[in-house]
Formats: sequence, structure tokens, C-alpha cells
Amino acid sequence: MTGLPTSIIRFDSVASTNTEAARQAVEGAPEGLCIVASEQTAGRGRFDRNWLSPKGAGLYLSIVLRPQMDQNTWPLSTLMASLAVHDALLDACNLQTDIKWPNDILANDRKLCGILGEMVDTPFGRAVVVGIGINLNTEGFPPELRQTTTSVQSATGKPPDAEVVLQALVRALVRRYEMLQCAGGGEEIIREWSRRSSYASGKRIRLANGDETLEGVTRGLESDGALRVETDAGEIRIIRAGDVASVRPSADGGQRNDRW
Ligand code: BTN
Repeated sequence: MTGLPTSIIRFDSVASTNTEAARQAVEGAPEGLCIVASEQTAGRGRFDRNWLSPKGAGLYLSIVLRPQMDQNTWPLSTLMASLAVHDALLDACNLQTDIKWPNDILANDRKLCGILGEMVDTPFGRAVVVGIGINLNTEGFPPELRQTTTSVQSATGKPPDAEVVLQALVRALVRRYEMLQCAGGGEEIIREWSRRSSYASGKRIRLANGDETLEGVTRGLESDGALRVETDAGEIRIIRAGDVASVRPSADGGQRNDRW
């Protein structure tokens, strides 16, 4: 393998692998450093949410990247990571997944993996830490979370080998990051992401961002990974942040919210 040399530092328990990776990035960790933990006591999700991370229930990994590209396109790092998770689950578990914009991985329309990208200013230049949490099983999850999420074990009917998933994920991250860093790599990541996501185009969605909600139909991604949404008034809106939920027209022509 060329391009991105990786190394893995493992913890039994850590507050958050993202926080630990950011700390090491500030101290000069090279890109490719992966922090992996068996449990997180203060796992973090998007929009300052908690990410429940019981011991042995998930794969909790953060990778340090120092992308050589225009910073406006750094959000592509998390799209790249979602593609890598998609590849790894297919490779290691023969599991087909969907990607929900921007970077949730779904199986049977339920969330199986979340990704958190964070910029970090370091004495060696700006870095990005990409944190990936894959539910391997839902042991230790409260009942309400079991109803809205899924795991590799539930989706495949078999307990996955965490080490096999980890190794497949690291390989996929190397391959997809190399793709991103090549000339025209951003366009290629967007093309590949769009092939694997039912949310890329023609999907009726509701988007929530703070107090704002918006409904419309997805119309592909911008070159920086932002989502184009056509509203019912025919206006194209460019979305850079928010929570997306699919909305299906019901039999009576009204709309039904899909689970979220
Ligand atoms: C989301 O809200 O969907 C993103 C969840 C990201 C969770 C992962 S688990 C590994 C890494 N460490 C963290 O504290 N968060 C990310």
C-alpha cells in the first residue's frame, strides 16, 4: 500500500478517540495515526450530541489527516470516510449499506455508523480528525436507541470480528484518501459516494438545522460535498449542515416521516 502510512494506537478505555487524536495531532502526530478504543466514556457525535460507546459494542476509531487541498473542500474528508466504511463493511462482513448525507451509514434504513470530522489547529498546520463509530452490536444500548439504530450483528445475523472490520476499515481509508488526494479526486469521491447513496438524488427529504426545517427533493452534491435540495417552490437550496430524514409520500398523498 502506498500514500498514507498508518499506525494504530489502542486504548482499553478513553474519553473520546477524537479528543485523543486531536491531542496527538497538536503534539505532531503524522497523518495516518489511528486511535482505537474498546470503549469511550465521553464519545461525541455531531451537533455536540453524546455517542454512546459501551465496551465491545462498537468500533471507535479516529484518524488524523493533514489534507493537501483547498480548505473549502475539507468536508469531503468525511464523505471519503463514509465511502471507506461502506467498502469495509462489504469487504469484511458482506454487508451492503446505504449512505445518508452527509455521512451516516444505514442498514435497513437504520443508523449503523456515525462519522464526526473536526478541524484541529496544530503547530504543524491545520489537521482534520475523522472519527468513526460503527455499532458492532447493540449490547448496552437502552431500548429507545435499539429501536432507531442497528448494528452489524443485527444486519448480518452474525457477530462480527472487530479486528477484521478494523483492518478492512484502515485499508479502505488508505485507498479512499489516496483517491481524494489525487488530481480530480474530489469529483471522483463525489461520484463514488453518489453511486452508493440513495440520498444523493431524487430522494424526498426533510432537513433540520437548528430552528430551520426544509423539505424537498435531493438533486446531487456540490463540489465541496454540500447537498442540493429542490424545494416544492422549485428553488434549489445548497445545504452545508443539518440532519436529513427521508420522507415518503403516503397512500393518501400526504407525507409520512420515516422513523426519525
Ligand atoms: C454522529 O453524530 O453521527 C457522529 C458520531 C461519531 C462517533 C465517533 S466514535 C469514534 C469518534 N470518537 C468520538 O468521540 N466520536 C467519534
